[in-house]
Amino acid sequence: MPKLGVNIDHVATLRQARRGSMPDPVYAAYLCEVAGADSIVAHLRKDRRHIQDKDIKSLRKKIKTKLNLEMSIAPEIVSIACKIKPYQATFVPERREELTTEGGLNVIANAKKIAAALSKLKKAGIFVSLFIDPDFKQIAAAEQVGAKIVELHTGRFANAKNNLQKKKFLNEIKAAVSYALAKGLKVFAGHGLNYSNVKLIAKIKGIEELNIGYSIICKALYIGLPNAVRQMRGLIR
Ligand code: PXP
Repeated sequence: MPKLGVNIDHVATLRQARRGSMPDPVYAAYLCEVAGADSIVAHLRKDRRHIQDKDIKSLRKKIKTKLNLEMSIAPEIVSIACKIKPYQATFVPERREELTTEGGLNVIANAKKIAAALSKLKKAGIFVSLFIDPDFKQIAAAEQVGAKIVELHTGRFANAKNNLQKKKFLNEIKAAVSYALAKGLKVFAGHGLNYSNVKLIAKIKGIEELNIGYSIICKALYIGLPNAVRQMRGLIR
């Protein structure tokens, strides 16, 4: 069964709507852990639109599972990561104008910069994963720059307009998982996964971890965060 990493960015989005102290992403992380989350994911964006530096510091101190810091490879963020030393970091592309991480990293075009950032984090004892599209060339490039883990972007599958497209993108993910495993990489997946589509991805053999945020935080508004996490875990199981 794949592990479940819960992304708590949108708890901070709600807090930042009023720039107050509620809801607290660190307490939310605690509730996720109690409900069975295997790791906590948080993205420290350059524009600090949701998670703030102080959140990352508190999460690092307080969570009992694993902190997975999503980050760009901007020097400022790399230096914060090396100081805070999360258990894991996931390199993602970041564009200020995007609503969410819209696609995977272009490892081919940015190989040198990614390799340099990756090596800095590795030296700091941090496991690094690269968030990439389910594309053979990007997977091969990820391996070449020294990555040991890739997280496959499931957005195309999640946003498919009809069943035919959905099947096509699911097959694309399946093929990418096999290819990455054959290259000796660990495979995670995430983006756009929800209570209706997660089973199809969780069934794919070889995916070790699913990272899910938006749908869980939305569901939490109706049934509470621990129940939302438990329900997602149940579906994955
Ligand atoms: N994994 C990565 C690398 C992401 O960037 C995101 C979005 O922040 C997620 C997983 C979770 O995506 P969602 O919020 O759509 O579940």
